[in-house]
Amino acid sequence: MELATNYMGLELRNPLVASASPLSHTVDGVRRLADAGVGAIVLHSLFEEQLREQAGLNDRLIDAGTESFAESLSYFPSAVEEEPGPRQHLSLLERAAAAVDVPVIGSVNGVTPGGWTDYARAMQDAGASAIELNIYYLPGDPSTPGRDVEQRYVEVLQRVKDAVTVPVAVKLGPYFSSTGEIALRLDDAGADALVLFNRFLQPTIDPETLAVVPSVALSSPVDALLPQRWIALLRGRVRAALAATSGVEDSADVARYLLAGADVVMTASALLRHGPEHATVLLDGLSAWMAHKGFESVDELRGMLSVPPGTDAAAYERAGYVSGLRTANVRAYRAW
Ligand SMILES: Cc1cc2nc3c(=O)[nH]c(=O)nc-3n(C[C@H](O)[C@H](O)[C@H](O)COP(=O)(O)O)c2cc1C
Repeated sequence: MELATNYMGLELRNPLVASASPLSHTVDGVRRLADAGVGAIVLHSLFEEQLREQAGLNDRLIDAGTESFAESLSYFPSAVEEEPGPRQHLSLLERAAAAVDVPVIGSVNGVTPGGWTDYARAMQDAGASAIELNIYYLPGDPSTPGRDVEQRYVEVLQRVKDAVTVPVAVKLGPYFSSTGEIALRLDDAGADALVLFNRFLQPTIDPETLAVVPSVALSSPVDALLPQRWIALLRGRVRAALAATSGVEDSADVARYLLAGADVVMTASALLRHGPEHATVLLDGLSAWMAHKGFESVDELRGMLSVPPGTDAAAYERAGYVSGLRTANVRAYRAW
């Protein structure tokens, strides 16, 4: 069974990627993921805010004129070393990349095209095989024009592309007026992969304490439906590789994403729920399904159920929606 996969130029042993999560907070966690068989690992993100905090501290500690963040890291006094932040993140990345024989992808979570993009270069120098930009931007100001939001994504990507030579993936959410168009714009701007879709972890309201509280919910397979559709629509319409993220619980979910056209399939919630070793279950299940269906390689089945080129995608989606709704109505009527 041939599972080998090319993901934005990286040769992976299979298409299953551990996406950014607390499982990659330690070298041991990264090693467990690799031992369980994943094709690549995305390290948990460093947040732009962490970088700003440390950069502020940096400004106070070192002479003005040290422009490269990577270089400035060497000036930190040892007291800062144990603090979580860029230095620790880079150190983890360096040790993780050396500890496993699968690509380790560095991730940054940012929203502004500011100087923090230098950090991407530092991640490359620390051994990242690629960079994943988790552009987590919720335009809270209701007067923000949609075009400005999109431009921000493009600029962040361009800055990072200018700073590194390794491939750059953009992880984005689905909340655009025209998700397809922003995907095309990012593709034009040089994104090596599009990671669809980020799940936004909005806070919730606790009616008991009358407070706004953080909420971190793990996903369920229903969360895969939207990214699955967009991957099926974008397959063959962008040059960038397509990575699926959201809602993978079992090997059938992995198969669905590959059939839709994903180059790689990422998983976080299922590994958090069942442990990193669940990756082996997913991969064994994928191989068993492929054998059962007579597929010899993932390349053979990838994109088999994508939206065919030349199709009027809007009409195709509308038709799927209408027939889906009709089926649901019939089922509901019968049940009633
Ligand atoms: C607890 C938790 C922490 C996460 N941390 C990150 C992160 O640091 N960076 C990131 O890009 N995504 C992060 N994610 C998002 C996941 O990588 C993934 O894209 C998302 O959970 C959807 O995939 P899943 O359904 O397999 O969980 C996190 C998700 C969870 C549940």
